[in-house]
Amino acid sequence: MEQLVQVDQAFIQPQEHRPKTVVSEADGIPLIDLSPLSSDTVSTAVPETLVAQVEAACRDWGFFQVINHGVSPELLRKAEAAQRDFFALPEEEKRKVRQDEQNALGYYESELTKNVRDWKEVFDIIAHERDGIDVVGLVLRNKWPQVPLGFRETFEEYAKSVEKLAFRLLELIALSLDLPPKKFNMFFEEANSLLRLNHYPPCPNPDLVLGVGRHKDPGALTVLYQDSTGGLDVKRRSDGEWFRVKPIPDAFIVNVGDVFQVWSNDKYESAEHRVSVNSEKDRFSIPFFLQPASRSKVQPLEELIDDKNPARYNELNYGEFISARKDGNLKKLEVENIQITHFSRA
Ligand code: OGA
Ligand code: NI
Repeated sequence: MEQLVQVDQAFIQPQEHRPKTVVSEADGIPLIDLSPLSSDTVSTAVPETLVAQVEAACRDWGFFQVINHGVSPELLRKAEAAQRDFFALPEEEKRKVRQDEQNALGYYESELTKNVRDWKEVFDIIAHERDGIDVVGLVLRNKWPQVPLGFRETFEEYAKSVEKLAFRLLELIALSLDLPPKKFNMFFEEANSLLRLNHYPPCPNPDLVLGVGRHKDPGALTVLYQDSTGGLDVKRRSDGEWFRVKPIPDAFIVNVGDVFQVWSNDKYESAEHRVSVNSEKDRFSIPFFLQPASRSKVQPLEELIDDKNPARYNELNYGEFISARKDGNLKKLEVENIQITHFSRA
C-alpha cells in the first residue's frame, strides 16, 4: 500500500537507510557501574575488573552506558526542565539566538547529515568561552537566551559537571589501553568541547525520516544524556546489526569518537549511530562532545604501534578535520561528508 507522505521531501531518507529493522533492546551496549571510582581522580587503585569492562565495551561496541557517575540527579532534572522550556518557546523567541554566518553556536532547526535533513532542532553551547576565533575561524562565544530564566547558569553548571565525568572516563580508557591515566589530558588544555541540546519532535512519518542520520562522532568522547523516550540506535561492530539503546533513568551513554579510533589505531572504533523518531512523543537528549583543541595533531599513539601493527592513519589536524566535516553537514554536496577513513593509509 502507498504510504501517505506528510513530511517535506528534504527529510526523506533513501530506502536503505530508513529505520526499519531495529534489533532488540534487551541485550545491547554494556552497562558499567562507576561506583568503584570513589575519589575525584582515577588513581592506580582503580579495580582491574572495571578497566577490563571498559576495554571490552570500547573494543566490541565503541559504546556503553554508565551509572553511579557522580553527576547529581537534581542537576539532570534542572537541565531537562530548562531544555524543555527553551524548545517550547515561540519560534521568534528562539530565532533571537539563532546561529548565523559569523557564529555557529546557538539555535538552529535544520541540519543535513549525509545530505538529508534531520528531524530535530538544536541548541549548541561551547563549554569554554573565549574571545576571538580559533584557528579554523570558529567563534567561541555563546548566544544565551533571556528566557527561560536561569538557562545559562544551569547549562554552565551542567557542562562543568559532565566535563568532569568525561575526564574520568578519559583516564579509564587510557588505563584500558595500558597507558598512564593522564596520557590524553594535554590534548584538552584548549578543548573545543561542545554541549548540544537536541529536541526531536513527533513525526507523522517516522518510518521515512531520521532524527539524526547515521554518522560517527568526530571528537574523542561523547557523554550523552537521553530522556525516557528512546530512539538512539547503534551499529554493532561484529555484524553491523542495529541496536536500540535502552533508556536507563539517570544513566549516561558514552561513546568513543573518530579521534580515539585514530589514537588507538583501530583497536577502538568510532561506532556508527543514528536517531529514530516516533509519531507520538517528543524526545530530548544532551550530548557533551569532548573535543581536542583545534590546533591538535592527532595520530596513532606510538605506544600502540609496532612492526606487526603499523600506523593505519596519517596525522590529521583536528580543526581542519571538523571544519571539513561541518561544511559537509551544512551544505548540500554531491559527495558524502568527509570521514575519518579519508585519512586512512589503507
Ligand atoms: C549526536 C547524536 C544522539 C541522540 O547529536 O551526535 O548522535 O540520542 N545524538 O540524540
Ligand atoms: Ni552522534
